[in-house]
Amino acid sequence: MDRIRIRKAARLQGEIPISGAKNAALKLMAACLLTSEPLVLSNVPRLADVRAMADLLKSFGVTVERTPGTSLGEGDTYRFQAGTIASSFASYDMVRKMRASFQVLAPLVARHGEAKVSLPGGCAIGARPVDMHLKALEALGAEVSLADGYVLAKAPKGGLVGGRIEFSKVSVGATETALMSSVLAKGKTEIGNAAREPEIEDLCLCLIAMGAKISGLGSGRLIVEGVKELHGATYAVMPDRIESGTYAIALALTGGELELIGARRDNNTALYDLLDRAGTDIQETKRGIRLYRNGAPPAAVEVTTAPFPGFPTDLQAQLMALMTIAEGTSIIRETIFENRFMHVPELGRLGADIRVHGDVATVRGVAKLKGAPVMATDLRASVSLVLAGLVAEGETIVNRVYHLDRGFDRLEEKLRAVGADIVREKE
Ligand code: EPZ
Repeated sequence: MDRIRIRKAARLQGEIPISGAKNAALKLMAACLLTSEPLVLSNVPRLADVRAMADLLKSFGVTVERTPGTSLGEGDTYRFQAGTIASSFASYDMVRKMRASFQVLAPLVARHGEAKVSLPGGCAIGARPVDMHLKALEALGAEVSLADGYVLAKAPKGGLVGGRIEFSKVSVGATETALMSSVLAKGKTEIGNAAREPEIEDLCLCLIAMGAKISGLGSGRLIVEGVKELHGATYAVMPDRIESGTYAIALALTGGELELIGARRDNNTALYDLLDRAGTDIQETKRGIRLYRNGAPPAAVEVTTAPFPGFPTDLQAQLMALMTIAEGTSIIRETIFENRFMHVPELGRLGADIRVHGDVATVRGVAKLKGAPVMATDLRASVSLVLAGLVAEGETIVNRVYHLDRGFDRLEEKLRAVGADIVREKE
C-alpha cells in the first residue's frame, strides 16, 4: 500500500488548479441513467471514486468513454450513454466500497421502473442511514422493500408520480434522490427542507441542460415539473470547494501566497470568512481566489459544522489541523456525523493538544507539531494529517493513502508544485 512522506515545508507559493468536485461529479454521472442519449461531462476529477462509479454504470450496460485531460488543471471528459439499461442491480461489494453508489437507485427506478441496490451500511464517520431517500421514493409512488441487506424499489405501472416531499432534516443525498426521482415523474413535485449545497445546484443545472424543469435553485424548496423524457447534454462539473478549502487551509498553516484557480468564495463563505478572521488575506481574482499569510500563528476560532451555507463537515478535520498551532483555544463542534473525530488521536501523535467530549473538540494551540507516522480511516481525516505534516518539524508519514486517492486529484503533484516537500512511496 502506498504512503506519503512529508517534510516540514517552506511557505507555499504559486498557484494550484482546482479540480472538478467529487461530490458533484459522482451524482452527475448517475444522472446519465435518466436518458438514452449521451451525457458528456467535462472537468471530471481523476479519482478512485470516479473510476468506481464508471465501473458501476458499465455494469448496468452504460457505455463509458474517457478522454483524459492534458494538464493538472484540465479534468477528464467522459461520455456516458445508457442506451438501454441491461441490469439494475448494484451489489453489496460495490455500494460498500463507495456510499455514493447508492445514488443510482433513484435514476434507475425513474427510467427503468425498478432497481435492487445494496444498503450502504455504516461507515467510518457514522451510521449514515438512508431512510429519507426511501421515503422520497415512496412519496412519488414507489413500492420499497428491504430484504437481505438490499433495497428493492419499484415504480407503479405508469411510472413515478409527482408528490410532496418534506424532509425532516437536511440531507444532500436524499435531496439528490428526490430530484432524480421526480424529473421524469408525472406532474409536479415539491421538495421541502431541501439541501442547499452548491453540489445540489450543480446537479439541478445538469438536469436542466438535459431538459428537466426545476425551479427554486439554491433555496430550500425545489419545484420539479416532471417531463416525459430527458435528452443528452454536455456539462462541466463545478470546481471542488472542499479541495479549494483544503488548499486554503494549507496556506493558512504554512504562510506564503497562493492563487487557487477556479475557487469561488461564495461556494464556501463560511470557511473564507473564518480564515479572514483568523488572519489570512483573501482576495477574489479573475481566475479564482488569492490568499496571503505572513506565517504568524492563526487566531483560535469557535466553529460548528452545519448544512450549507454553514461550515462544511468535509472541512472540519482540515480546520482542526490548522487550529492545532493557533494562538489560544478553539472549539470545534461536529453536528453532521456522529463519529467524525478519528483524526484527533492521529493529530495527537504529532503533538496536538485536543480533547473530545461528545460532539465537541477543544483544541489548545501548541507552539509546534513534530512529525511521526500516522494513518487515517477516512478521506478528509487523511488530508488533515497531510496538512499537519506540512508544518510538523521533521518528517511525517501518512499511511493508507488510498483514502486520499478517493477524493483528492493528484494531491502530491499539486502541493509539490507550490513548494511542499511531499513524495509518494510504494511499499
Ligand atoms: C454527502 O453525504 C457527501 N457525500 C459527504 O461527503 C458530506 O459530508 C455530506 O453530504 C454532508 O455535506 C457525497 O456527496 C458523496 P447527508 P450524504 O445525507 O449525502 C443523515 C466526503 O468526505 N441522514 O447530507 O451521505 C446522515 O446520517 C463525504 O466527501 C439520515 O438520517 O450526507 C447525516 O447525519 C463524507 N437519513 C445527515 O443526515 C438519510 O436518509 C446529513 O447527511 C440520509 C441522511
